[in-house]
Amino acid sequence: MAEGKKLTLSLIKADVGGWVGHSSSHPALLSKAREVLGNSTLPEDYYVTQVGDDVQLVMTHYHGTDNEGIHKLAWTAFEEAASVAHEMHLYGAGQDLLVDAFSGNVKGMGPGVAELEFVERPSEPVLCFMADKTAPGAWNMPLFRMFADPMTTPGLVIDNKMHEGFIFTVHDALEGKTIDLKTPEETYDLLMFLGAPGRYVIDHIRPAKWTDEWCAVASTTKLTMIAGRYVGKDDPVCIVRCQSGFPAVGEALEPFAFPHIVPGWMRGSHMGPLMPTSQPGSHPSRFDGPPRVVCLGFQLADGRLGEPRDMFDDVSFDLAREKANEVAEYLRRHGPFEPHRLPLEELEYTTMAGLQKSLADRWQDEHVHKMDKSKAKAEGQMELD
Ligand code: F6R
Ligand code: MG
Ligand code: MG
Repeated sequence: MAEGKKLTLSLIKADVGGWVGHSSSHPALLSKAREVLGNSTLPEDYYVTQVGDDVQLVMTHYHGTDNEGIHKLAWTAFEEAASVAHEMHLYGAGQDLLVDAFSGNVKGMGPGVAELEFVERPSEPVLCFMADKTAPGAWNMPLFRMFADPMTTPGLVIDNKMHEGFIFTVHDALEGKTIDLKTPEETYDLLMFLGAPGRYVIDHIRPAKWTDEWCAVASTTKLTMIAGRYVGKDDPVCIVRCQSGFPAVGEALEPFAFPHIVPGWMRGSHMGPLMPTSQPGSHPSRFDGPPRVVCLGFQLADGRLGEPRDMFDDVSFDLAREKANEVAEYLRRHGPFEPHRLPLEELEYTTMAGLQKSLADRWQDEHVHKMDKSKAKAEGQMELD
């Protein structure tokens, strides 16, 4: 352990091939990624897992956030896993590796990244949330609830260390800007933005007092915007530090007892409930979903991750899963109609451009009907107001 030195926790993920379809990741990809990380001296510790069709790399190290070596290592692990996926003819092999060569930082190259740098506390519980078949805005509601809703987090009311509130840094995905908003004072302002998660997403959160260190960070990449075309869902990840002035582990898990509606699911083009599941239960099946969230808890020790705990592998989340299935069933009955299907501008698959072209001649101007109406009025067949 490096005394007083800042530890970095990096959670980096990519879909490098699906087994079967987009439902899961083959164990061979995870073995390859483990082999690559295991052969490097850069991480202090690492853990490789899978959530749906995404390979998740959790690493601790002392090289800081956005470190080229660590990012290159993650990129190599994904590249080599993608080669295995190609050999095995897995689906969408190499899907999230959008460029041919690594150039300094995996951000903007396809993979999703959440990194936190902090001085390890005497006891440092952290939660890694990983979702499949949804988008970064999926964290807006749960993160707001964890850090700003006293109905979820009583610590905001009764713990001196939390009572001053938190500062949310919100990212505007359209303008590429960020803004800091402080709770509880600016709660209503904050909610105006967070309520539009397709555009405004939480980037990170820090306490208003007692430390400058971030306590939560989310991946904010939008693959669609990076590539300018559909290249797969930007299934998001998020890290939350817990206890002693941060939300208790149970306060951080509590928002997921409500399976809120998120965009994603089938073809990245449908609204569906975010279902909390165990890691082995994270294989979106029905209608390629419903969207899943997995949470692995780590009790860091001297820069090492130790064994993870599978936090949603608990009967207390059974009701949330049941509710998610009920909501999924209800939404599915809407078929291709909104609000189950996303609005036109948010669809990740669309035939609209082609239809507009091929049907262009068949649209008639509204005034044709207006003329018919005036004619009808003149002939006294229609009452107009
Ligand atoms: C959603 C997702 C899947 C695919 C769907 C069609 O994020 O990954 O729902 O969009 O299975 O996939 P393609 O177009 O690859 O046949
Ligand atoms: Mg996929
Ligand atoms: Mg995925």
